[in-house]
Amino acid sequence: MFKSVFREGLIMKISIVGTGYVGLSTAVGFAIKGHDVTCIDVDRNKVALVNSGKAPFYEVGIEEGLQNAIKNGKLRATTDYSAVKDSEITFICVGTPSDETGKMDVSYVKTATESIAKVIADKPYHVVVVKSTVVPGTTRDVVLPILKKHAATFGLCMNPEFLREGMALEDFLNPDRMVIGELDVKSGDMLMKAYQKFNAPFVRVPLSTAEMIKYASNTFLAARISLINEIGNACKKLGIDVYDVAHALGQDKRIGPHFLEAGIGFGGSCFPKDVSALMHKAEELGTGNEIMKAVLSVNANQRKVIVDMLKRRLSLKGAKIAVLGVAFKHDSDDVRESPAINVLRALKREGADVWAYDPQAMENAKKIAPEIKYASREKCLKDADACLLLTNWHEFRTMEDKDFAVMKNKIIIEGRSILDRKKVSGYEGMCW
Ligand code: UGA
Repeated sequence: MFKSVFREGLIMKISIVGTGYVGLSTAVGFAIKGHDVTCIDVDRNKVALVNSGKAPFYEVGIEEGLQNAIKNGKLRATTDYSAVKDSEITFICVGTPSDETGKMDVSYVKTATESIAKVIADKPYHVVVVKSTVVPGTTRDVVLPILKKHAATFGLCMNPEFLREGMALEDFLNPDRMVIGELDVKSGDMLMKAYQKFNAPFVRVPLSTAEMIKYASNTFLAARISLINEIGNACKKLGIDVYDVAHALGQDKRIGPHFLEAGIGFGGSCFPKDVSALMHKAEELGTGNEIMKAVLSVNANQRKVIVDMLKRRLSLKGAKIAVLGVAFKHDSDDVRESPAINVLRALKREGADVWAYDPQAMENAKKIAPEIKYASREKCLKDADACLLLTNWHEFRTMEDKDFAVMKNKIIIEGRSILDRKKVSGYEGMCW
């Protein structure tokens, strides 16, 4: 346990590099807690958008929070790194994409660190916090040497985020736990100041441990999903509803109820990338990565399972298929690694006439799958030979038989358990 040394209501000057969903949710969250926040991003358009109170992505509650923060003078954005100088602590929240082999690319983290290091070189003390997801060892072996090259007196922390897209602001304000990876106690104490008003257990650990906690968390959650999907596929063959199994399973305190929703599997910018990065790290270390490999291959296979199910019901060539939901999950416009994108492409390859609808993600989907027809839900369903539901949007929950009555054939397969059996008849679930 650490000793509290902080004044009540302390306001810190915080700078945050990167205005993606992690950076901006962190910025708005800190502003809500009363801190004075400056966002830094190299993208002029994003900076202009943020300053006008608009988020560059869809995220529940973020625009309202952003607009309030700007109105109260608590938040601003700039492309100018010199803003780091006026702050006491800087969070690095830039992307860490994977390359084609699945290995993590830390070039944005390096560039951001270099820019920060130059600005803080003549400051008496400044703390840099890595919030970007980086494989264990990166903060110590990549970030620290860059800071040392330019600056003499600085603090360094690694503070992983556990924010779900769509719920990022809420998750930021109400964390299950706060992991503080610290180079030394002084660095960690400074970061604790920023989180002074957060009600969460604090876990203070070395830098690399904090990095591993993040990967372990995402890999565990992804593994649960692949495991329940594999069990679900067997359930389907046996005529068992996997959701009945998961419900009872989740009541075992040792297991718990979360992340047992079987179906088409996980997507997004985090799970696929993070499991893959840890798998590569373990390969490099020679410590074994069989389970991680299996997690990814089971996940990839689920996208084929649903297409095969549909093929068993009708010939895809020339058939009009309505796909409802293309985002990787509800409350998000993100289509990165979305299972729906693979399914859309597979259907197209089979010669189907593919129509897709999503409440938020159609613009993003058009950019990466322009060969698909995008239209309203009603237009997609009109005269369709079959319908696949691939994202658990709340609006699909309220659908009724009459919504599907416009279809030519009522073949409906769910990739996520979303329809209400009392309202819709005769549909099939992937694992239920
Ligand atoms: C995930 C983690 O949940 C966050 O804690 C973490 O901070 C974040 O990654 C990250 O690393 O930045 P996210 O990817 O936004 O968050 O979304 P989740 O709600 O975790 O869902 C991930 C995927 O798994 C989605 O495609 C979702 O539909 C799928 N999923 C989730 C299932 O298929 N079954 C489930 O039971 C739960």
